[in-house]
This record gives sequence, structure tokens and C-alpha cells, in this order.
Amino acid sequence: MSKKKLDITPLPNQKQQYVKVTGDCTTILCKKITDQLPAWRERVARLLKEHGSFKVCDVTIDQVYGGIRGVQIQVSDISYVDPLEGIRIRGYTIPELLKVLPRSEGSEFPLAGGLYYMLMANQLPTPAEAWLIEAEWQCRRMMPEEVYDVIRAMPADTHPMTLFSMGILALQGESNFAREYATGIHKLDYWETYLEDSLNLTAKLPSLAAFIYNLKYRKDDQIEPHPDLDWSANFAHMIGKGEDREYQDLCRLFFLLHSDHEGGNVSAHAAHLVGSALSDVYLACSAGMNGLAGPLHGLANQECIRWLLDVRAQFDQFPTRQQIRDFAVQTLKNGKVIPGYGHAVLRITDPRFTAQLEFAKKYMPDDELFRLVNLVYEVVPDVLKESGKVKNPWPNVDAINGTLQYHYGVREFDFYTVLFGVSRILGLTAHVVWSRVLGKPIERPKSLTTRMLEDMVYGAKEQDGQPGL
Ligand SMILES: CC(C)(COP(=O)(O)OP(=O)(O)OC[C@H]1O[C@@H](n2cnc3c(N)ncnc32)[C@H](O)[C@@H]1OP(=O)(O)O)[C@@H](O)C(=O)NCCC(=O)NCCS
Repeated sequence: MSKKKLDITPLPNQKQQYVKVTGDCTTILCKKITDQLPAWRERVARLLKEHGSFKVCDVTIDQVYGGIRGVQIQVSDISYVDPLEGIRIRGYTIPELLKVLPRSEGSEFPLAGGLYYMLMANQLPTPAEAWLIEAEWQCRRMMPEEVYDVIRAMPADTHPMTLFSMGILALQGESNFAREYATGIHKLDYWETYLEDSLNLTAKLPSLAAFIYNLKYRKDDQIEPHPDLDWSANFAHMIGKGEDREYQDLCRLFFLLHSDHEGGNVSAHAAHLVGSALSDVYLACSAGMNGLAGPLHGLANQECIRWLLDVRAQFDQFPTRQQIRDFAVQTLKNGKVIPGYGHAVLRITDPRFTAQLEFAKKYMPDDELFRLVNLVYEVVPDVLKESGKVKNPWPNVDAINGTLQYHYGVREFDFYTVLFGVSRILGLTAHVVWSRVLGKPIERPKSLTTRMLEDMVYGAKEQDGQPGL
């Protein structure tokens, strides 16, 4: 499949990076969204008008103190996580996505361009449509030098996720939405500039991530993107793995699996919340990345490989089942979590874990760390079940993703969450754009005081003399 030719015109009086792309690519996503927009707006308006006061769920004191777990507070039509099935992105499960999305010639895994088309346009792309997004990204990938200057100015030991988030913020001056908002565009049209910003930002992510990796771990040996490679493979190329076809495929798999996990997780919710104040895509995604950088969320991949390496380092020989069990029990006794296990929504082994397990079985079955991942998978769920409090004892996406990177030589594990971030921003931007398509308002839930809750359940009188509002 050949890539479409694009006609790129710099906007008048702007730096080169503000490009307007004309030709088939310019309008394809806009058109797809515009075609669906009246029907979506009508559906939502009808629900609100006819059933706005319909009660969706009740909220308990457990939930208000417990991280609003399970409270259905927002709508996401981009993906949905079923506790017993796992993620469906635009209606497709992970195995289905791996089958139906278009691939690059000679590759076993889908093009990120096709996935992005699907996230944004809500339709399965043809190969040509997947390549249109890839071509669009090629046109928009150029990075302003100032972004690199900002990153270079940071102390050498700054965490790569901090650099990644800062890099995104440093791009914020490019926001078409922020610029056009200042000139007073109509609110029904906001989404178009959000989409424009999303394409510009996502186009630059492989370069931004590769720059950080090369700066920190490859003596600042930077490699230009390759015009013939797709978005995912280009990342591999830019960190010096251009020749490794298997690693390119791993990148395609990784970037697909981590792209979205409905709207309630920390990164998606943070991006949505910040975007709801009409902060632009850059501000919203940087906020999402700051949430992803937490060890209970995206940073769990770095923590998980650290835990596996700790297990391995404890013993002279490959550990036995009993030794892993003892190590896991000790982790819990030390008041720590076992990274890569558990989930706020899932109650099964994460299908994203399974997809990576299949990859590893095929390409690296004898890898020692992978064998350890398998053994941990046999042992840890029982340990977590015995603890009596963990609701989901099964592995999540982070229980294995670092092991695959490690196998292919990307061993600097504090970088793994950046890889997660590159992928997750595909989903975050789709959520943020569609929130503007549907004109969702600023998000503002209500907080209560402890005293108010006590008054509700014990009665106000009984609380006389208690401190609090
Ligand atoms: C993902 C996670 C944050 C979900 O949290 P949650 O929805 O509160 O999970 P649960 O309802 O099962 O938590 C109940 C208890 O079990 C604990 N628990 C959950 N998963 C655990 C794990 N992997 N190891 C040890 N304890 C765990 C919780 O910390 C909590 O303990 P507490 O009552 O003392 O505070 C949690 O499972 C976790 O910390 N996992 C490890 C980090 C990780 O892999 N994160 C990536 C998620 S994709």
C-alpha cells in the first residue's frame, strides 16, 4: 500500500511547525466526525431531555472515601472495560483489534495510524485510511528546537516521565485551539482545533520519547525519523533499533495495547478533567501523563521489572515456586504492593497481559525473565487471594510489558512509563476531542465534610461537640 502524497503549506507568519495539510488527509477525520456529529449530539440531548433525572447509581460512604471506585460518573464511547472480559476499544476486544486493524507489509501487528483512525473516527479503517494517518503524522512530526532546549536544561537525574510531560508542555505554545479561542471561535467548533492539536501532538510523540531516551541513555546520539517507517517502527528506529524487525513489531503491539482503558483511570480522567476547563490538548495530556507517572498507575511497569529483578537477584539459581511465594509474602508483609497485579475494574487476567504473553511465547520463550514472569503468574495470584483483601489477584498489563522491552535491550526501566505515555496519549486525545464534540461541560463534582457524613448517618444532634465544618 503506497502512502498518499500530502501537500503541506506553512501557515502565513508562522513557524514551519504550524503546518496546514491539504489534500485527502486534511479533512478525513474532520469529515468522519462531522458526519456522525448530529446523530451523537441528538442522542445525548434526547437522553438528557427525556431522562436527565434517571438515577444511574447510588454512592456509598465506602465509595466517597474509597477513590470513587465503581461510581459511574462519566461516559466514554471510545472504550469500555468489562470486569470479566477486559477492554473493548470502539467495540473490539484486544484479539479482535489485532486481527482486524491494517498492518504494514511484512509486519504481524497493526499500524498505530489505523488504531488512531478508529479511536477518532469510530470506524474500522481501510489500509489506505490507516496510511493516511501515518502520512499525516509524518507531515506534522517536526519538533521545535525549544522543546529539546527545555529538556536539556533539566538536571541529568530528572525522571524521564517528568521530561516527557515537560516536553508536551513545552509544545503548548503551538496550540491551535488556544490561539483560536483567543480570537473567539464558536464553542460548537472547538473540537476541530482540538483535533488539529491532537494530530500535531501525537505526530511528535515518538520523536519526543526517542529524544529523551537518547539524551539519557545513548550519549545524546540522536537519530532522525525515517520517512518510510510507520509511527511505531520509527520510534524503534530513532532509539537505534531500526534493523530489529521483531522490536519494531513489539513497539506496534505495545503502542496498541496501552492506548486506552476507558475514561475513569487516572490518566484518562485527569486529561478529561483538565480538558473540561477548556485547557488545550497539550495541557490536558501533560496532566494525564503526570497521573500516569504514579506507581499505582503507569509507573507500575518500571516497578514490576524492578521487583522481578529483585526476585532474581535474591537467589543464586533460577528461583523455585516456594522461593517466589516467600518473596511475594514478604513484599506484602513489608507493606508494599506486588506491582503488575490487581486492578480497580478488571476481575480476570488482563487481556493486554495475555497478548504480550503470546508475543513472548513466540519470540522469546527461553528468556530467563520471561520464564520468571510465567512462574510468578503461577504463584502470586494465590498469595494475593490468601491476603483476603485484594479484589483482583490477576496480572495486569504491567506484569510483563517491561520484560519484553528488557529482552530487546531497552533495559533502562525508568523509561518504560514513557513508552506507556506515548501510546496512552492516542486514547487521551480521542477522549478530549470527543468531549468537545459532545460539548461536555466543565467537570465539577461536589465534596462533603466528614461531619456532614456523620450528620447524615448518626443525626446532627449526636455530633454536637465534634470538630469539623
Ligand atoms: C491497581 C490497584 C491500584 C487497584 O487498587 P484497588 O482498586 O484499590 O484494589 P483493591 O480494591 O483490590 O484493593 C484492596 C486492597 O488490596 C491491596 N492490593 C491490591 N492490589 C495489590 C497488589 N498487587 N499487591 C498488594 N496489595 C494489593 C490494596 O492496596 C488494598 O489494600 P488496603 O485495603 O490495605 O489499602 C492495585 O491493585 C495495585 O496497587 N496494584 C499494584 C500496582 C499496579 O500494578 N498498578 C497498575 C494497574 S494497571
